[in-house]
Amino acid sequence: MSTPARQLKLGAVTMGVGGPGQPYLWLDEDIPVDASVNIHWYIEQARLAEQAKFDLIFIVDSQFITADSPPHYLNRLEPLTLLSALAVTTEHLGLVATMTTSYNDPFNIARRLASLELISGGRSGWNVVTSGDAGAAGNFSRAEHYDYDTRYARGLEFVRVAQGLWDSYEEDAFPRDRATRTFLDPARQHALNHSGDHFQVAGPLNISRSPQGQPVIFQAGDSEQGRDLGATIGEGIFTHAPNLAAGQAFYQDLKSRAARKGRDPDHIVVMPGAAVFVGDTDDEAREIEYDLQNRDKDFDRALAELGRPFAWHDFRQYDLDAPFPQEALIFAERGFRTGAEKIAKAAQDNGWTLRQTVESISAPRQTPFAGSPETVATRLQEWFDARALDGLNYHIGHPSQWRRFREEVVPILQERGVVRTEYDATTLRGNLGLPVPENRYTRAREESLIRI
Ligand SMILES: Cc1cc2nc3c(=O)[nH]c(=O)nc-3n(C[C@H](O)[C@H](O)[C@H](O)COP(=O)(O)O)c2cc1C
Repeated sequence: MSTPARQLKLGAVTMGVGGPGQPYLWLDEDIPVDASVNIHWYIEQARLAEQAKFDLIFIVDSQFITADSPPHYLNRLEPLTLLSALAVTTEHLGLVATMTTSYNDPFNIARRLASLELISGGRSGWNVVTSGDAGAAGNFSRAEHYDYDTRYARGLEFVRVAQGLWDSYEEDAFPRDRATRTFLDPARQHALNHSGDHFQVAGPLNISRSPQGQPVIFQAGDSEQGRDLGATIGEGIFTHAPNLAAGQAFYQDLKSRAARKGRDPDHIVVMPGAAVFVGDTDDEAREIEYDLQNRDKDFDRALAELGRPFAWHDFRQYDLDAPFPQEALIFAERGFRTGAEKIAKAAQDNGWTLRQTVESISAPRQTPFAGSPETVATRLQEWFDARALDGLNYHIGHPSQWRRFREEVVPILQERGVVRTEYDATTLRGNLGLPVPENRYTRAREESLIRI
């Protein structure tokens, strides 16, 4: 049997009226001003992604805001509720939601995702995050956010418990035989009886497995602990790749960590997120890129938003023309530390003042995927061939650009055989080429039979 050719995977990230760095995306007249809470808008985006044979739609989330948060964050739908609606209006598209392990319990997350699994026929995915928004603690009865080691240890145990709960029923647990009045085969129902450092969970979960066995696990943390969690449990990895070399380095690091843990690196799909800018020519695309980024330029908003990775520390209290206040890094200890460290290091290396730091991080910049449809397709193919990515997580922004990507870039990639022209499967695992995890109790029984 020949192995199917490796194909580029496509995800679509939705940030409705505008995520970080996009304070004025919502001024685009083609975006409904209520897009982030408008289910009809999401249904339309999912349909468009499905028409272009995308693998998945990804709904980001967090649970803490201030008045300075990006427009999309201020007023948005809860991911699983939203994805339940998309599950019944799409047929093939994977449905991936961010849910934090820091402010949930494994039983309720396992149950809600298992429900989405059955509603969608095996198309759900879970982006496991540990929350960088430290303020979420105050919304969940905690005085302060967990430190990095605790939140990632809790995250790993959380996922293991959820996976254990998803094995509560074996495939044939429900004979549903009216003649013998047998609904359940109790020998095929299993209590987890987990007792660990962070969770005590008896089980069983009150919902059966789906056509793909279990939801696909995604992960997006970039710290040492975050990469280690991704290499341990991630089947899809969301990340950022500012250039080819950085993408390759991350890809290599993640996959070799996974191999060292005894995992098959081919069973992990690395998908950096990126905005794409398409024009008739490369020059025109660069003009579009500059123009669209320039529309979002706003020094005061960028200064306020700089606080987010630093646990919403308020940088407005400092002298703008003094050196970047490195001491603010202590606030990032429980926030988005990796992102905060990158900013602080860039400021230090370049000797920037606070004003120069804000100007630099919010200035229009040339991104990797900008050009004519041919150029963008070729660049994507190069990154894919050079193992800087297995897939692209396309950032949906301006509708005209989203349309050009689907209608002008995707067909070129299809023609070259880089992306699919038809769905391979009905499940997300099937489309991503990921194996179905076997039920642990079924496997144990089969192995014990072989030994006899
Ligand atoms: C592509 C990408 C998407 C992410 N999506 C979310 C998200 O939806 N919600 C969230 O709380 N954190 C999200 N994160 C943040 C990380 O999961 C993590 O909490 C953060 O990066 C801080 O941890 P770290 O220092 O380990 O990276 C995302 C990160 C990346 C790179």
